[in-house]
Amino acid sequence: MTVTDIQSQLQELQTEASRAIASTTTLGELEQLRINYLGKKGELSQILRGMGKLSAEERPKIGALANDVKDILQNSLDQKLQELQQAEIAAKLANETLDVTMQGVSRPLGKIHPLNSTIDKVLDIFVGLGYTLAEGPQIETDYYNFEALNTPPDHPARDMQDTFYLPGGNLLRTHTSSVQIRYMEQHEPPIRIVAPGRVYRRDTVDATHSAVFHQVELLAIDKGLTFTDLKGTIREFIRQMFGDDLPIQFRASYFPFTEPSAEVDVQWKGKWLEVMGCGMVDPNVLKAVGYDPEIYTGFAAGFGVERFAMVLHQIDDIRRLYNSDLRFLNQF
Ligand code: DAH
Repeated sequence: MTVTDIQSQLQELQTEASRAIASTTTLGELEQLRINYLGKKGELSQILRGMGKLSAEERPKIGALANDVKDILQNSLDQKLQELQQAEIAAKLANETLDVTMQGVSRPLGKIHPLNSTIDKVLDIFVGLGYTLAEGPQIETDYYNFEALNTPPDHPARDMQDTFYLPGGNLLRTHTSSVQIRYMEQHEPPIRIVAPGRVYRRDTVDATHSAVFHQVELLAIDKGLTFTDLKGTIREFIRQMFGDDLPIQFRASYFPFTEPSAEVDVQWKGKWLEVMGCGMVDPNVLKAVGYDPEIYTGFAAGFGVERFAMVLHQIDDIRRLYNSDLRFLNQF
C-alpha cells in the first residue's frame, strides 16, 4: 500500500461519505453512516490500518490528511444532524397545528324536563326542611291505596278517584298517599318523608286532565305535631316554591285519611288557585299501621306536580308536558 493509494482511498472515502451524508433523510440513517465511516471499526479506521507499512516521513502526511477527512466528515455529520432535527421539529409542529377556523362538531345538550325540574325543586325544599325521600310501587293493592287510608270498599270517597283496576284485583295507584302506609309499616316515628311518584286515574284527557300524572306526598309523624306545624310547613314550602309574599289560604275540606282536612289555595295572577290537599293524619290511619294515636299525631299533604309546573312556567295545556315536542321542551 503506497502513500498515493492511501491518499486516493481517503479522497474516495470523503467523496462517497459526503454524498451519502447529504442524501440522508432520517436521523437513524445518519447515525448508521457515522458508525460506518467514522466508527471504531469504520472505513476510516480500516484505511488507516494500512499506514503501518509506511515510512516515518510518510506517516504524518497521511495522518494530517486523515484528520482533515475526519474533520470534514464530522462537520457534515453535525450539520446534517442539526438539519434533520430541525426538520423533525418543524414536521411535528406542522402536524399538531390546530385549525381554529375549522367547523366544529356541535353536540346538542340535553335538558331537564319541566316535570322533573319541578319535582327536583320540591324535593330540594323538603330535604332542606329535614325530610327523607320515600317511594312506593305504582301497581298497588286495594289495601294500600284505599283501605289502610281509612277508605273502606263502600266509602263514597272512592268515587272521587276513578280507578284503573288490573286483572287479579290489583290497581294502578290513584295517589301517592299509599306510600304513607308502606313507609309507616316499615318505620317507627318520628317520620318525615317526601314521596314523589306517578299516579293514574280514569280521567278523560283534556287541557287540565291526564290519565297519568305525578304527585308529591308529604308525611310527618311525631309526638305533639299540630295543625300549626302543618300550616307553617306548607307556608314555608309555598314561599320557597313560588316566592315571598304570595297570599295563600287554607280552606276546610274533606279527605278520608285526614281529620281535619284542608285544601290550600295560592293567589296567582289575581285568582285563587287550589294547589294541594292536606290535613292531620286520621287516627284510623295511625291505627292501621300499629301506631298509638294517643301518643303520636301527624300531618300529611299531597299535590299534583303538573299543576305546579303549569303555574310556574305558564303552561296552558297539560298535554304539552307529554308530547315530547322539542319546540316546547327547548324553552326550559
Ligand atoms: N291523596 C289526595 C289526592 O290525590 C291528596 C291528599 C290530600 C294527600 C290530603 C294527602 C292529604 O296526604 O293529607 O287527591
